[in-house]
Amino acid sequence: MSSSGGVITPEASTVYLISEAHSYLKAAALRAVAQLGVADHLGDDPRPVEELAEATGTDADFLHRVIRLLATIDVFRQEEDGRISLTPLGQGLRTDSRYSARWGVVMSTMHTHWSSAFELGDGLRTGKAPFPALFGEQYFDYVAGNPEAAAEFHGGMGSFSGAARRLALDEYSFPEAGTVVDVGGGTGGFLRDILLENPGLRGVLFDQAHVLPGETPRDIASERWTEVAGDFFEEVPADGDLYVLSYITHDWSDEECVRILRNCRKAMAPGARIAVFDAVVEPGNEPDDAKLLDLVMMMLVSGRERTAAEFGRIFDQAGLRLARILPAQGPLSVVEAVAV
Ligand SMILES: C[S@@+](CC[C@H](N)C(=O)[O-])C[C@H]1O[C@@H](n2cnc3c(N)ncnc32)[C@H](O)[C@@H]1O
Repeated sequence: MSSSGGVITPEASTVYLISEAHSYLKAAALRAVAQLGVADHLGDDPRPVEELAEATGTDADFLHRVIRLLATIDVFRQEEDGRISLTPLGQGLRTDSRYSARWGVVMSTMHTHWSSAFELGDGLRTGKAPFPALFGEQYFDYVAGNPEAAAEFHGGMGSFSGAARRLALDEYSFPEAGTVVDVGGGTGGFLRDILLENPGLRGVLFDQAHVLPGETPRDIASERWTEVAGDFFEEVPADGDLYVLSYITHDWSDEECVRILRNCRKAMAPGARIAVFDAVVEPGNEPDDAKLLDLVMMMLVSGRERTAAEFGRIFDQAGLRLARILPAQGPLSVVEAVAV
């Protein structure tokens, strides 16, 4: 619904706004079916909800009501005979689908996010992310110290960023040879994709020790894969030809980003580039995933999603120059910088 240019009655406005406030229940329903793996029990043929309930260990009436809601956003479909099928969109929830959304949905709705979202009003008053006050520590320290949260976060981040990056990867031309350093590369899914598609490149996966997988992916020759543990606020591995930062800058304040980027600048081989894979906030009032992700950053950490001008400013302060922005097909753009 849009009221710009039209007349809307007060009662229609109230009904609409309360319905919007209930939209968190769609997220809750998505989380529940993702956690329970409901989509994994739906193949090509529709199934009665009782069968699905038995297969997933759930209550048939509750499951039916959750699926009925999710059918309104085209995840499931209720056939005329009452059986349930998975839509083409819903296939993305299957664990075995390429870039499965299953764990990404679980991560996007994990308790750290829900609890912090509940306190967003306090965050607005203080100008500080609610997470540290609620949980008593910074977000990444909390994740590091809680194996369950770490599994949800890192597992989900892989699937969440995997699909978005796939769209962005098609836009970006990697160098044909040399070393790509994935700064804060997590468990290495992105670096693996880059190396598979660019056989002349070697890769360095750089992250905190407890995050690194500790083994070369089976489909990558071991001499092309190095893991380095460290802290990107101290230094990053030297002599890379391309420094990739995927979903990194949005986690940190401008000052913190400048420290990370300066360390990349110091480490870069002559002629090297930096490719930031992150959302870019566009002007205007259109729906924009970047504006949703920006609130996640506001709730949990000191970071933010940035406009092109804001990226330009943090690069300048780190001795870099914004070279170009490859526009996003999905939520991620590629923002490229070079040494000044
Ligand atoms: C949002 S995740 C992004 C992971 C990966 N690049 C991706 O796109 O899926 C942020 C990553 O930064 C890493 N990180 C956080 N603080 C770090 C630090 N001080 N030094 C190195 N890595 C750090 C985290 O462990 C995590 O893997």
